[in-house]
Amino acid sequence: MRAGGSDPIREAAGLLAEHRNAVVLTGAGISVASGIPSFRGAQGMWAKYDPMEYATLHAFMQSPRKVWEMLSEMLSVCGDAAPNAAHKGLAALEEIGVVRAVITQNVDGLHQAAGFRRVIEYHGNMEELICVFCWKRYRTRERWTQGTVPLCDCGEILKPNVVLFGEPIPWLAQEQAEEEARTCGVLLVVGTSAQVSPACDIPRIAKESGAAVVEINPEETSLSGNVTDVHLRGSASEVLWQLLKELSPGDEASPRTPSGH
Ligand code: APR
Repeated sequence: MRAGGSDPIREAAGLLAEHRNAVVLTGAGISVASGIPSFRGAQGMWAKYDPMEYATLHAFMQSPRKVWEMLSEMLSVCGDAAPNAAHKGLAALEEIGVVRAVITQNVDGLHQAAGFRRVIEYHGNMEELICVFCWKRYRTRERWTQGTVPLCDCGEILKPNVVLFGEPIPWLAQEQAEEEARTCGVLLVVGTSAQVSPACDIPRIAKESGAAVVEINPEETSLSGNVTDVHLRGSASEVLWQLLKELSPGDEASPRTPSGH
Protein backbone atom coordinates (compact mmCIF):
# COMPACT_ATOMS: atom_id res chain seq x y z
CA MET A 1 0.00 0.00 0.00
CA ARG A 2 1.60 3.26 -1.12
CA ALA A 3 1.33 6.07 1.40
CA GLY A 4 1.25 8.38 -1.56
CA GLY A 5 4.94 8.59 -2.38
CA SER A 6 6.86 11.86 -2.33
CA ASP A 7 4.07 13.89 -3.92
CA PRO A 8 0.72 12.27 -3.11
CA ILE A 9 -1.29 15.10 -4.71
CA ARG A 10 0.54 14.59 -8.01
CA GLU A 11 0.17 10.81 -7.72
CA ALA A 12 -3.57 11.07 -7.02
CA ALA A 13 -4.07 13.59 -9.83
CA GLY A 14 -2.23 11.22 -12.18
CA LEU A 15 -4.60 8.37 -11.30
CA LEU A 16 -7.66 10.61 -11.78
CA ALA A 17 -6.39 11.91 -15.15
CA GLU A 18 -5.47 8.40 -16.35
CA HIS A 19 -8.87 6.86 -15.64
CA ARG A 20 -11.30 9.83 -15.94
CA ASN A 21 -14.03 7.69 -14.39
CA ALA A 22 -13.54 8.20 -10.68
CA VAL A 23 -16.38 7.62 -8.25
CA VAL A 24 -16.49 9.43 -4.90
CA LEU A 25 -17.71 8.16 -1.51
CA THR A 26 -18.36 11.02 0.89
CA GLY A 27 -19.11 11.21 4.60
CA ALA A 28 -19.87 13.85 7.20
CA GLY A 29 -16.33 15.29 7.05
CA ILE A 30 -17.04 16.99 3.73
CA SER A 31 -19.90 19.00 5.29
CA VAL A 32 -18.12 20.07 8.49
CA ALA A 33 -17.03 23.33 6.80
CA SER A 34 -20.72 24.01 6.09
CA GLY A 35 -21.46 24.01 9.83
CA ILE A 36 -22.88 20.48 9.98
CA PRO A 37 -21.20 18.50 12.78
CA SER A 38 -19.77 15.09 12.00
CA PHE A 39 -21.09 12.10 13.94
CA ARG A 40 -18.00 10.77 15.70
CA GLY A 41 -15.30 12.63 17.56
CA ALA A 42 -15.50 14.95 20.57
CA GLN A 43 -17.82 17.50 18.89
CA GLY A 44 -19.82 14.89 16.98
CA MET A 45 -23.58 14.38 17.07
CA TRP A 46 -23.11 11.01 18.78
CA ALA A 47 -21.26 12.68 21.65
CA LYS A 48 -24.53 14.53 22.38
CA TYR A 49 -27.12 11.93 21.32
CA ASP A 50 -26.52 8.22 21.98
CA PRO A 51 -27.25 6.72 18.52
CA MET A 52 -28.72 3.59 20.12
CA GLU A 53 -31.31 5.81 21.86
CA TYR A 54 -31.85 8.43 19.14
CA ALA A 55 -30.87 6.99 15.74
CA THR A 56 -32.29 3.47 15.40
CA LEU A 57 -35.56 2.46 13.75
CA HIS A 58 -36.48 0.65 16.97
CA ALA A 59 -35.97 3.85 19.01
CA PHE A 60 -38.13 5.76 16.52
CA MET A 61 -40.94 3.19 16.75
CA GLN A 62 -40.76 3.18 20.58
CA SER A 63 -40.20 6.89 21.30
CA PRO A 64 -40.67 8.99 18.13
CA ARG A 65 -40.97 12.29 20.01
CA LYS A 66 -37.62 11.65 21.73
CA VAL A 67 -35.95 10.81 18.41
CA TRP A 68 -37.39 14.03 16.97
CA GLU A 69 -35.29 15.97 19.52
CA MET A 70 -32.22 14.81 17.56
CA LEU A 71 -33.91 14.94 14.15
CA SER A 72 -35.08 18.54 14.55
CA GLU A 73 -31.51 19.59 15.45
CA MET A 74 -30.21 17.83 12.32
CA LEU A 75 -32.96 19.38 10.17
CA SER A 76 -32.26 22.87 11.48
CA VAL A 77 -28.51 22.60 10.94
CA CYS A 78 -28.94 21.12 7.46
CA GLY A 79 -31.55 23.74 6.59
CA ASP A 80 -29.12 26.57 7.39
CA ALA A 81 -26.15 24.98 5.59
CA ALA A 82 -24.72 25.92 2.21
CA PRO A 83 -22.28 23.93 0.05
CA ASN A 84 -18.64 24.63 0.94
CA ALA A 85 -15.48 24.69 -1.18
CA ALA A 86 -15.20 20.89 -1.00
CA HIS A 87 -18.68 20.31 -2.47
CA LYS A 88 -17.88 22.91 -5.15
CA GLY A 89 -14.51 21.30 -5.85
CA LEU A 90 -16.14 17.91 -6.42
CA ALA A 91 -18.73 19.50 -8.73
CA ALA A 92 -15.85 21.11 -10.67
CA LEU A 93 -14.13 17.69 -11.00
CA GLU A 94 -17.41 16.29 -12.37
CA GLU A 95 -17.62 19.25 -14.77
CA ILE A 96 -14.16 18.56 -16.25
CA GLY A 97 -15.04 14.88 -16.68
CA VAL A 98 -12.67 13.41 -14.09
CA VAL A 99 -15.39 12.27 -11.64
CA ARG A 100 -18.61 10.59 -12.78
CA ALA A 101 -20.70 9.99 -9.63
CA VAL A 102 -20.77 10.61 -5.90
CA ILE A 103 -22.11 8.09 -3.40
CA THR A 104 -22.89 10.09 -0.28
CA GLN A 105 -23.65 8.90 3.23
CA ASN A 106 -24.78 12.45 4.01
CA VAL A 107 -28.43 13.48 4.05
CA ASP A 108 -27.84 17.25 3.74
CA GLY A 109 -28.38 17.62 -0.04
CA LEU A 110 -25.24 19.78 -0.35
CA HIS A 111 -23.74 17.91 -3.32
CA GLN A 112 -26.86 18.72 -5.37
CA ALA A 113 -26.85 22.28 -4.03
CA ALA A 114 -23.25 22.64 -5.30
CA GLY A 115 -24.38 21.55 -8.77
CA PHE A 116 -23.14 17.97 -8.71
CA ARG A 117 -25.35 16.00 -11.11
CA ARG A 118 -25.02 12.25 -10.41
CA VAL A 119 -25.62 11.87 -6.65
CA ILE A 120 -26.43 8.49 -5.06
CA GLU A 121 -27.99 9.16 -1.62
CA TYR A 122 -26.94 6.00 0.22
CA HIS A 123 -28.61 7.00 3.50
CA GLY A 124 -31.58 8.86 2.05
CA ASN A 125 -32.18 12.56 2.61
CA MET A 126 -33.94 15.07 4.85
CA GLU A 127 -35.99 16.59 2.00
CA GLU A 128 -38.83 14.10 2.42
CA LEU A 129 -40.89 12.79 5.35
CA ILE A 130 -42.43 9.33 5.23
CA CYS A 131 -45.12 7.60 7.30
CA VAL A 132 -43.84 4.19 8.41
CA PHE A 133 -47.44 3.05 8.88
CA CYS A 134 -49.27 4.10 5.69
CA TRP A 135 -46.19 4.96 3.55
CA LYS A 136 -47.54 8.40 2.60
CA ARG A 137 -44.75 10.89 1.73
CA TYR A 138 -44.50 14.67 2.20
CA ARG A 139 -41.98 17.42 1.36
CA THR A 140 -40.28 18.24 4.69
CA ARG A 141 -40.45 22.00 4.14
CA GLU A 142 -44.22 21.76 3.60
CA ARG A 143 -44.94 19.62 6.65
CA TRP A 144 -42.40 20.44 9.39
CA THR A 145 -41.48 23.61 11.25
CA GLN A 146 -38.90 23.99 14.00
CA GLY A 147 -40.18 22.83 17.36
CA THR A 148 -42.99 20.65 15.98
CA VAL A 149 -43.32 16.90 15.48
CA PRO A 150 -44.91 16.36 12.04
CA LEU A 151 -47.95 14.13 11.74
CA CYS A 152 -49.24 12.15 8.78
CA ASP A 153 -52.83 12.62 7.63
CA CYS A 154 -53.40 9.18 9.19
CA GLY A 155 -52.37 10.65 12.57
CA GLU A 156 -49.04 8.85 12.98
CA ILE A 157 -45.70 10.66 13.55
CA LEU A 158 -43.67 11.10 10.36
CA LYS A 159 -39.98 10.18 9.89
CA PRO A 160 -37.44 11.88 7.63
CA ASN A 161 -36.65 9.55 4.72
CA VAL A 162 -33.16 8.90 6.10
CA VAL A 163 -31.72 5.47 6.93
CA LEU A 164 -31.67 4.96 10.70
CA PHE A 165 -29.60 2.16 12.23
CA GLY A 166 -31.47 -1.10 11.69
CA GLU A 167 -33.03 0.09 8.42
CA PRO A 168 -32.04 -1.29 5.00
CA ILE A 169 -30.20 0.86 2.45
CA PRO A 170 -32.62 1.96 -0.32
CA TRP A 171 -32.42 -0.88 -2.83
CA LEU A 172 -31.71 1.26 -5.92
CA ALA A 173 -29.02 3.30 -4.14
CA GLN A 174 -27.29 0.11 -3.03
CA GLU A 175 -27.41 -1.41 -6.52
CA GLN A 176 -26.14 1.79 -8.18
CA ALA A 177 -23.38 2.28 -5.59
CA GLU A 178 -22.06 -1.27 -5.96
CA GLU A 179 -22.14 -1.05 -9.77
CA GLU A 180 -20.19 2.23 -9.67
CA ALA A 181 -17.66 0.73 -7.23
CA ARG A 182 -17.16 -2.36 -9.39
CA THR A 183 -16.56 -0.41 -12.61
CA CYS A 184 -14.61 2.70 -11.61
CA GLY A 185 -10.85 3.08 -12.06
CA VAL A 186 -10.43 5.25 -8.97
CA LEU A 187 -12.52 5.46 -5.80
CA LEU A 188 -12.02 8.78 -4.00
CA VAL A 189 -13.04 8.45 -0.31
CA VAL A 190 -13.67 11.86 1.27
CA GLY A 191 -14.46 12.65 4.91
CA THR A 192 -15.66 9.34 6.29
CA SER A 193 -14.45 7.31 9.26
CA ALA A 194 -15.52 4.21 7.30
CA GLN A 195 -17.03 2.63 10.41
CA VAL A 196 -20.61 2.02 9.26
CA SER A 197 -21.60 -0.92 7.10
CA PRO A 198 -22.54 -1.44 4.36
CA ALA A 199 -21.17 1.96 3.20
CA CYS A 200 -17.70 1.08 4.49
CA ASP A 201 -17.67 -1.99 2.21
CA ILE A 202 -17.76 0.19 -0.92
CA PRO A 203 -14.01 0.96 -0.94
CA ARG A 204 -13.25 -2.76 -0.56
CA ILE A 205 -15.57 -3.63 -3.46
CA ALA A 206 -13.79 -1.05 -5.63
CA LYS A 207 -10.35 -2.26 -4.57
CA GLU A 208 -11.21 -5.93 -5.23
CA SER A 209 -12.49 -4.89 -8.68
CA GLY A 210 -9.11 -3.34 -9.52
CA ALA A 211 -9.67 0.32 -8.65
CA ALA A 212 -7.10 2.53 -6.95
CA VAL A 213 -8.40 3.95 -3.66
CA VAL A 214 -7.51 7.56 -2.81
CA GLU A 215 -8.51 8.79 0.65
CA ILE A 216 -8.93 12.44 1.70
CA ASN A 217 -9.06 12.76 5.48
CA PRO A 218 -6.92 14.60 8.06
CA GLU A 219 -7.05 11.44 10.20
CA GLU A 220 -6.22 7.76 9.75
CA THR A 221 -9.28 5.53 9.28
CA SER A 222 -9.93 1.78 9.13
CA LEU A 223 -9.15 2.01 5.40
CA SER A 224 -5.84 3.79 5.75
CA GLY A 225 -3.76 0.80 6.73
CA ASN A 226 -4.94 -1.67 4.10
CA VAL A 227 -7.42 -0.55 1.43
CA THR A 228 -6.15 2.96 0.70
CA ASP A 229 -3.46 3.33 -1.96
CA VAL A 230 -2.90 7.09 -1.61
CA HIS A 231 -3.88 8.96 1.56
CA LEU A 232 -4.11 12.75 1.12
CA ARG A 233 -3.94 14.00 4.70
CA GLY A 234 -5.81 17.26 4.97
CA SER A 235 -9.19 18.94 4.82
CA ALA A 236 -11.46 18.07 1.90
CA SER A 237 -11.70 21.66 0.63
CA GLU A 238 -7.93 22.26 0.57
CA VAL A 239 -7.05 18.87 -0.95
CA LEU A 240 -9.79 18.87 -3.61
CA TRP A 241 -8.75 22.31 -4.87
CA GLN A 242 -5.10 21.24 -4.96
CA LEU A 243 -6.19 18.26 -7.09
CA LEU A 244 -8.25 20.53 -9.33
CA LYS A 245 -5.32 22.88 -9.87
CA GLU A 246 -3.09 19.88 -10.68
CA LEU A 247 -5.69 18.60 -13.17
CA SER A 248 -6.32 21.90 -14.94
CA PRO A 249 -2.86 23.58 -15.01
CA GLY A 250 -2.71 27.01 -16.61
CA ASP A 251 -6.46 27.08 -16.86
CA GLU A 252 -7.40 30.63 -16.03
CA ALA A 253 -10.59 29.25 -14.63
CA SER A 254 -8.60 26.94 -12.40
CA PRO A 255 -9.65 28.56 -9.22
CA ARG A 256 -7.81 29.22 -6.05
CA THR A 257 -9.59 27.74 -3.06
CA PRO A 258 -12.78 29.78 -2.99
CA SER A 259 -14.07 31.10 0.30
CA GLY A 260 -15.81 28.45 2.38
CA HIS A 261 -19.43 28.83 1.34
N1 APR B 1 -12.16 17.12 5.52
C1 APR B 1 -12.10 15.77 5.37
N2 APR B 1 -12.41 14.88 6.35
C2 APR B 1 -12.79 15.40 7.54
C3 APR B 1 -12.87 16.79 7.78
C4 APR B 1 -12.55 17.66 6.70
N3 APR B 1 -12.59 19.00 6.85
N4 APR B 1 -13.29 16.98 9.07
C5 APR B 1 -13.46 15.74 9.60
N5 APR B 1 -13.15 14.80 8.69
C6 APR B 1 -13.23 13.33 8.83
C7 APR B 1 -12.97 12.81 10.21
O1 APR B 1 -11.58 12.58 10.41
C8 APR B 1 -13.75 11.47 10.18
O2 APR B 1 -12.92 10.43 9.69
O3 APR B 1 -14.56 12.98 8.53
C9 APR B 1 -14.88 11.73 9.18
C10 APR B 1 -16.25 11.83 9.81
O4 APR B 1 -16.56 10.58 10.34
P1 APR B 1 -18.01 10.32 11.00
O5 APR B 1 -18.36 11.43 11.92
O6 APR B 1 -17.99 8.92 11.52
O7 APR B 1 -19.02 10.43 9.77
P2 APR B 1 -19.31 9.34 8.65
O8 APR B 1 -18.11 8.53 8.35
O9 APR B 1 -19.96 10.06 7.53
O10 APR B 1 -20.41 8.40 9.37
C11 APR B 1 -21.01 7.40 8.56
O11 APR B 1 -22.48 6.85 10.39
O12 APR B 1 -23.78 7.54 12.13
C12 APR B 1 -23.82 7.10 10.83
O13 APR B 1 -25.50 7.49 9.24
C13 APR B 1 -24.43 8.11 9.89
O14 APR B 1 -23.84 8.54 7.58
C14 APR B 1 -23.32 8.40 8.90
C15 APR B 1 -22.42 7.19 9.01
